[in-house]
Amino acid sequence: MAAEPRERPGVRGAVSRRRLLIGGAVAAGGVAAGGAVAVTLTDRAATPQAGEPLGTAGEPLATAGEPRTTAGEPRTTAGEPLATIPAGQVVPFHGDHQAGVATPPQAHAAFLAFTLMPSTTREGLARLLKLLTDDARRLTQGRPALADTEPGLAELPGNLTVTFGLGPGAMRAAALPRLRPLPRFTIDRLQERWSGGDLLVQLCCDDPVTLAHAQRMIVKDTRSFAKLAWVQKGFRQATQRPGLTQRNLMGQLDGTVNPQPGTPGFDRAVWIGDGPLRGGTMLVLRRIRMHLDRWDAADSAAKEFTVGRRLDTGAPLTGTHEHDEPDYGRLTELGFPVIADEAHIRRAHVADPGLRMLRRAYNYDDGPDDIGLLFAAYQADVETQFTAVQRRLAEVDLLNEWTTPVGSAVFYLPPGCGEGGWIGERLLT
Ligand code: HEM
Repeated sequence: MAAEPRERPGVRGAVSRRRLLIGGAVAAGGVAAGGAVAVTLTDRAATPQAGEPLGTAGEPLATAGEPRTTAGEPRTTAGEPLATIPAGQVVPFHGDHQAGVATPPQAHAAFLAFTLMPSTTREGLARLLKLLTDDARRLTQGRPALADTEPGLAELPGNLTVTFGLGPGAMRAAALPRLRPLPRFTIDRLQERWSGGDLLVQLCCDDPVTLAHAQRMIVKDTRSFAKLAWVQKGFRQATQRPGLTQRNLMGQLDGTVNPQPGTPGFDRAVWIGDGPLRGGTMLVLRRIRMHLDRWDAADSAAKEFTVGRRLDTGAPLTGTHEHDEPDYGRLTELGFPVIADEAHIRRAHVADPGLRMLRRAYNYDDGPDDIGLLFAAYQADVETQFTAVQRRLAEVDLLNEWTTPVGSAVFYLPPGCGEGGWIGERLLT
């Protein structure tokens, strides 16, 4: 047997690809033997500077100007050292929680769901997650995956985040706490090709080329363990100023009332506070088709009445500015509620901020008859957060006239990990 590669300096207890493969389901002669890229890497010391934006673990978000290379470290395909990565392009991978949830949404996303091989055991799942964590740790920091066939495509991380989740089947296979699939809602017209899944990989990135490369590396490394079930690609307004609310393809400002990262309300609403799943969160991903031809036929007043907010400013129909509190008690001169009883925001509203879900939606456009929203909602408890709201909306919501859920999936996203760890470690060992 070939000698074990030496551990990379600075990466304590790092998972060696060869060790993973030897212990795993991959046949001999796999990627490690190819040695396509020989890289020696030193993880940068994360020392936050005053005023620097911080990640979930208090690490600096930006790495502008920070020297990253010494002899033997990665070079661009043109042979130049990767001296710096442009400002604001790196989201820390390590932390108490996985990146890609509280992270400001990047412009592009790909949600990948895999079906595990029927024989998958807890140990097998652990091996897969170790392997994928190693890929994610590298690619998010602008470094090629091990045995990366196109290392140049990893050079611009573009705020890449890679986030992992486990579906109900994977939780069962690994004898983890039960994760219930979502109930069927009356408005659902679900297609299997957009639903379910054992393993989720959520890739978000401001650069679609980097994202496509990361996706390919992940799919390649998952092949021996699981079958790709679906890929759903989404996008947001790439040139919107950070912090401002995005417009969806119906033209609405979407995301106004949302838990704000860094607040106690956010932590309570999004992260699981105790029990074996603590530190993680639950993702509900719904593919919701928009019937835009019909929506186009409605006038602005009808569109605003449907949601209860103005199209131009996003202000509630009882206010002037986007973040004005809606006045649900206000009546028109004729005695009708200004914000209709059936309006989307009235039906969806949750008074307790700790019970709101984080909506981090992406638009999708897969041809003129398949346009809509990848509604991604993160929460500590699916039943009391997403499901409670969705039940109300399925019963009555004017928006249902123009939208149809065609895909649905739920995943548990384990907590984050430190430098020597891997996603899912606490659960699976
Ligand atoms: C294509 C489908 C959907 C569209 C186009 C849509 C659009 C909107 C818009 C424009 C707003 C107002 C601005 C904002 O606060 O973000 C809103 C609010 C909201 N939506 Fe949706 N939405 C959709 C589906 C859903 C679903 C499936 C749920 C949950 C089951 C949901 C839950 C919410 C919640 C909780 C709010 C905030 C309500 C409040 O407290 O004011 N939406 N949505």
